[in-house]
Amino acid sequence: MDDTLQSRLSVADKAHCWHPFTPVADWEASDPLIIQSGHGVYLFDIAGNRYFDGTSSLWCSALGHRHPRLDAALIDQIGQMGHSTFLGMTHPKAIQLAQRLAEITADGLDRVFYSDNGATAVEIALKMAFQYHVQKPSPEPQRTRFLGLTGAYHGDTLGDVSVGGVNHFHSLFKPLLFETLRAPAPHCYRCPLGLSRPQCALACLKEATDLIDQHAETLAAVVVEPIVQGASGMITQPEGWLKGLADHCRNRNVLLILDEVAVGFGRTGTMFACEQEAVSPDFICLAKGLTGGYLPMAATVTTNEIYNAFRGDPSNPKTFYHGHTFTGNPLGSAVALAVLDAFEHDHILENVNRQAQRISERFDRDLIGRRFIGEIRQRGLMIGVDLVQDRATQMEFPAHLKPSAIMCRIARSKGLLIRPLGHNVTFLPPLISTDQEINDMLGIFIESYLEMENTIAAELVP
Ligand SMILES: Cc1ncc(COP(=O)(O)O)c(C=O)c1O
Repeated sequence: MDDTLQSRLSVADKAHCWHPFTPVADWEASDPLIIQSGHGVYLFDIAGNRYFDGTSSLWCSALGHRHPRLDAALIDQIGQMGHSTFLGMTHPKAIQLAQRLAEITADGLDRVFYSDNGATAVEIALKMAFQYHVQKPSPEPQRTRFLGLTGAYHGDTLGDVSVGGVNHFHSLFKPLLFETLRAPAPHCYRCPLGLSRPQCALACLKEATDLIDQHAETLAAVVVEPIVQGASGMITQPEGWLKGLADHCRNRNVLLILDEVAVGFGRTGTMFACEQEAVSPDFICLAKGLTGGYLPMAATVTTNEIYNAFRGDPSNPKTFYHGHTFTGNPLGSAVALAVLDAFEHDHILENVNRQAQRISERFDRDLIGRRFIGEIRQRGLMIGVDLVQDRATQMEFPAHLKPSAIMCRIARSKGLLIRPLGHNVTFLPPLISTDQEINDMLGIFIESYLEMENTIAAELVP
C-alpha cells in the first residue's frame, strides 16, 4: 500500500471534510477507511483491501457496484447530455421513467414529481398534501397537521425532522420544528403498551386510529415508513397494522404518505413494501434504490386527484412553488430506467427472497439463543440484530459499552462493512448477492458476533 497516499488523504480529509452523522472527535481519532472502487458486492479501499458492502452503501447500492446495465445506461446518456432543467421543459428519459414508475406503483399513483434525495421526496409530499387541502374543490385549509410515528426517520430537512421521531437526532432542533401528532410505532419486541402478540389485538393501531379520529378535521396527512421503520433499528410492523392504518386514513379523508425511501425497490422482498399489505397510498416517496445508488435522485409519486388541485388559471395559477435545480436529471433518469430493466429481466426479487431465506435459516441456527442476541428483525434483505445485555429481561447495555460498534469494527477488519444503529447491528446486503457471497458475509457476521460476545462478556465480569 502507498502509506503516504493514505496518510496524505487522511490528513486532507480531516482538515477539510465534514462527515454526516459522524462525531467529529471520533472521526479525528480514527484511521479513515478510504474507498477507491467497487465491483458487484465488493468495495475496495485505496490499499486494495476488499470489503463486502454489507449495508449496500447506506441501503442504496441495491444492485451492487459497476452493474453492467447501469454503467451502460449512464455512458449512453452522458454521450447525449448531462443535464437540462425540468422547470418548464422536459426530456425523454424523465418522461419514460415517470411512465414506468406509474406502471409499477399502486393503482392510482400516476403523477411523478422528481427531486434529489429521500429527504426532499418526503418534504415535497408534506408540502403537496398541505397545499392540496387548500386548493381542492372543497377546500379545507384548516388541515395543517401531520401524524407521524415514534422513532420515525424521514430525512434531515426541517419538515422531515418535524414529522420524524428519533429523539437522539431531532430533539436539539425542537425550537425550529412544527408540532406533529405522534402515534406509537408498532414495536412488538419492546411494545410501547406493554402488551404482546397476538393477545394485544393490535392495540397500538387503535392508539393511532384514535388520534386520527380526535384530529380528523385538522389532519393533512399521516406519514409512515411502511413494513420496516429503518433508522430506529429495523422495527418490523406486525401483519395487518399498515392495512388497518391505511383503511382508517381513507375512511377519515386523511391523506397517507408512505416513505418507501429505504424499503422501496425490492429491499423487503416485493418491489414496494406497501404491496405486502395491498395498500395504495396517496403519496409514495422513493429515492435510494431508484438509481441503484448511482446518482442522487428521488421521486414523489401521487394521484391525479392531488395533481388536479394544482391546475389553476392565470388569475390563480395554483402552482406548486417547489423545485430543485437537478429535478429530473437525465443521467439519474437513464440509470433509474436501467434499474427497472434489471428488476424486469434479472430475477432480482426472486434472489432477494432466496437469500433472505438463507440468512434467516443461518441466523436461526447460529445466532438465535446466543447470550447477547435480543431479537433479529428481518424483512427480505433488510435486517437488524438487537443486542441486549440480558436476553431474559431484554435489558439494554449501558451507554459506555458499545457492542454493536465493536462488532462492526471486528467485521470490518475481516472484510465486511456493516453499521451499528444504537445497540442494533444492521445488515442490508446488495440485492444481487449470490449464494456464495451471502454465505461468506454470514460467516464473517457470525464470527464477528462471537468475538464481540467474548470481549463484552469479559467486560461484564464483576
Ligand atoms: C425512510 C427514510 N426516509 C428518508 C430518508 C432520507 O433519505 P436521504 O438520506 O436520501 O435524504 C432515509 C434515509 O436513510 C430513510 O431511511
